[in-house]
Amino acid sequence: MSESVSGIAPDERPPLEPTDAGGLDAAGALALLCAGAITVTGRLVDASNATLYCEISHDGVVGHCVYKPVRGERALWDFPDGTLAGREQAAYLVSEATGAGIVPPTVLRDGPFGAGMVQLWIDTDETVDLVALTRSDDPQLRAIALFDAVVNNADRKGSHLLPGPSGRIYGIDHGVTFHAENKLRTLLWTWRGQRLRADELELLTRLRVALSASGAEPPGQRRRDNDLPASPEAPEAEPPGRLATALVGLLTQTEIESLRARIERLLTERRFPVPSGDWPPIPWPPF
Ligand SMILES: Nc1ncnc2c1ncn2[C@@H]1O[C@H](COP(=O)(O)OP(=O)(O)OP(=O)(O)O)[C@@H](O)[C@H]1O
Ligand SMILES: [Mg+2]
Repeated sequence: MSESVSGIAPDERPPLEPTDAGGLDAAGALALLCAGAITVTGRLVDASNATLYCEISHDGVVGHCVYKPVRGERALWDFPDGTLAGREQAAYLVSEATGAGIVPPTVLRDGPFGAGMVQLWIDTDETVDLVALTRSDDPQLRAIALFDAVVNNADRKGSHLLPGPSGRIYGIDHGVTFHAENKLRTLLWTWRGQRLRADELELLTRLRVALSASGAEPPGQRRRDNDLPASPEAPEAEPPGRLATALVGLLTQTEIESLRARIERLLTERRFPVPSGDWPPIPWPPF
């Protein structure tokens, strides 16, 4: 398998670095998030939604998480009410399907204020200059820029990038993603218009398989044998259609179709998107 943008083959990159996650690995984190008892200990005051900092414990394991109850979501003009938590969960599932480990472990579950999204707290390296980071050509940001193009992220601010003590950069706050219309709004335009590399096309091909109903390419999308890099591991990495099934209920069918269409477009154009011109390309405030 070819190397990923981080220089580590996707199947060698753990989905979560324990150093950034209170010592938990991805499986331990998910087990804790699903079964743990949640105690709210603070509210993240900068957040515009009810974004709560919590302790979570199960079987003697104690960790921290962010809990965003659906009923604390602010109303938005362009996204239907009560759908942001589901979009955060959908973004995590897409991140997992890419193997890039961008979004911290995230689940949808009941909590002290009802159903919501619960995401593992990531410790951050406070010495990292976020402004300088977002202007850099760090290969991890390139991977996040591609992820954002796939999920149609309308809010990739600097504060939605978390540099962990391990050096891994995580992406958070994916409540305004997956709109059926182009909403890509991000600080990460460094690679706009640049050609996608073979490993990035391979990743997109894996996503296409994971999103297809049958595992076959959609009609009319079949390519010449040597047109795209081969990815023989792809079906094993993500069984055909599994992602599509998991997204049902989190996104509308139209939004799932739009996700497929964005992936097809990236595979056809083989370039990072450029600002569309009919939508502010940079989030405000940017941090
Ligand atoms: N999983 C996480 N790990 C560590 N810190 C987090 C995590 N999730 C959120 N935070 C911190 O909390 C802040 C607010 O979270 P987030 O941006 O997700 O909330 P929000 O309600 O969508 O806010 P806004 O709409 O203002 O962006 C983040 O900028 C970050 O500092
Ligand atoms: Mg935010």
